[in-house]
Amino acid sequence: MPGGKKETMLQYVDKIADLIAPQVEGLEKDEIRKMIEIPADSKMGDYAFPCFKLAKILRKAPPLIAKGIAEAIADDPIFEKVEQVNAYVNMFINKEAFAGDVISEVIEKGDDFGKSDIGADRPVVVEYSSPNIAKPFHIGHIRSTVIGASIAKIYDYLGFKVIRINHLGDYGTQFGKMIVAYRHWGNKQDVIDEPIKTLLGYYTKFHEEAEKDPSLEDEARATFTKLEHGEPEETEIWQWFRDESLKEFSRVYDMLGITYDSYAGESFYSDKMPRFVKELEDKGLMEEDDGARLVRLDDYGLTPALIQKSDGSTLYITRDIAAAVYRKETYDFYKNIYVVASQQNLHFQQWIQILELMGYEWARDCVHVPFGLVSLEDGTMSTREGRVVFLEDVLNGAVDKTREIIKEKNPDADPEMVEEVAKAVGIGAVVFNELSNYRIKDYVFSWDHVLNFEGETGPYVQYTYARSCSILRNAGEEVVAKAKEGFDPQYLKGESAHALTSLLYRFPEVILEAGEKYEPSIVTRHLVDIAQAFNKFYHDEHILVDNEDEKVAKVAMVMAAQTAIRNGLDILCMKAPEKM
Ligand code: ARG
Repeated sequence: MPGGKKETMLQYVDKIADLIAPQVEGLEKDEIRKMIEIPADSKMGDYAFPCFKLAKILRKAPPLIAKGIAEAIADDPIFEKVEQVNAYVNMFINKEAFAGDVISEVIEKGDDFGKSDIGADRPVVVEYSSPNIAKPFHIGHIRSTVIGASIAKIYDYLGFKVIRINHLGDYGTQFGKMIVAYRHWGNKQDVIDEPIKTLLGYYTKFHEEAEKDPSLEDEARATFTKLEHGEPEETEIWQWFRDESLKEFSRVYDMLGITYDSYAGESFYSDKMPRFVKELEDKGLMEEDDGARLVRLDDYGLTPALIQKSDGSTLYITRDIAAAVYRKETYDFYKNIYVVASQQNLHFQQWIQILELMGYEWARDCVHVPFGLVSLEDGTMSTREGRVVFLEDVLNGAVDKTREIIKEKNPDADPEMVEEVAKAVGIGAVVFNELSNYRIKDYVFSWDHVLNFEGETGPYVQYTYARSCSILRNAGEEVVAKAKEGFDPQYLKGESAHALTSLLYRFPEVILEAGEKYEPSIVTRHLVDIAQAFNKFYHDEHILVDNEDEKVAKVAMVMAAQTAIRNGLDILCMKAPEKM
């Protein structure tokens, strides 16, 4: 291998393409690369090369072509065996050399294993969570929050410069109503004690009262106009509502370990509207409709987008246009990602189309990453019927349930440790569950599934991590130190060791794929695969054996698996407890 042991992991497919290229003149190396497959059944090898497509170029039957290639490359030391089976070249990698390369590289890279510099520090904006002020932060919000946080992490790993934004819904006519309700029927202490519940109550109260006394609507409109003009009294109340709501949201973000670079929400853009209304006007995109202004999008199969109401107030989409331009001007993003429910697909289609019509050549660097609905086992949620499940209550509930399970399993555990593990595992269980399915799918939240320690769950992966830590503790520091120095890979060619090595090898590619598809569940699934393969290795092989060399090699394997699981959990924004 060029450079000896240092062959870095992603190059195996390259190397194989290099070997095959001279055998198939007329095909570029890059095309060959793309044709190389990973067989679903490991009996067909680690890699396979189908020759069907070559029949035309080489004017030979595919099995004959496969035979020729197999014979020509079989002697390369990267292979243990190369077989022709029908039209396929099946390649079995030299397990010993492979294990040596992969395991030593994982150990050497440690916390950097899985990271790359593909991003070359280019700025990527990831907007996620973005709840509405004075509205419940409920279980439905977990999706944008957790999927977005993980996508941001994935882009960190890929070497981009990530800017995390919470585009708070902190603006709109409803704030006029809330201020009016607060002035008529409100009380300061209630807002301080329970901001969201209280403010939501004001909103409901306003609507009840406005039915009886329609003049309240006018009062609310006038109040909102004052807010728009920056009148100090209205602004102060609004600012206070925002601060109190944010305090409540922040409790949840702290539990989830989520941070932001910016909380520039809708209100941030309120004074930047005129520029865009004018720009749309100047570019001849705007039409007047009964005093209101809109952009027609019929040519693109979309309904018209209302930009400005007849009373002059702007809309959600107007603020999103301003936000996109602001982000480009401020961060010069390479990509601008919005993790927002699929219910808003139309909004984002209209918005991108408008940006494009305005002539912004970066419009297609803006990406809406949609996701499906979450519902509860006993029926969907409904804010209207008051069946709101607060996200904070779900997270606390998960911690409580986990605490009970741990206490049951370990009645004498140290209470401080129980608390720490209950938090890491309980919250992690909810997060992992969230990231387990393709994001676009609707799913049903089920406690039994979330907290199962045996299934393909967060607790299962964290438990596997804790097991790897415990094996290393039992091995002792001296053996661990030796394993870091080097090991003899001849002990790592058993079937289960090889299966685990192959998964570790693919880990960086999996992160790249997850980034390209904005799909953290690809990492989640791979992590489950690694945990299962590790547990099989642990089950099939004795690790802490008498033979020192064998022990050191197997401990190296455990260290590599541990590293991959830790980094994988980090990508999912989960903690990796060392004891459980
Ligand atoms: N606040 C909105 C909501 O809760 C989501 C905001 C999405 N982001 C955006 N840039 N429009 O529905």
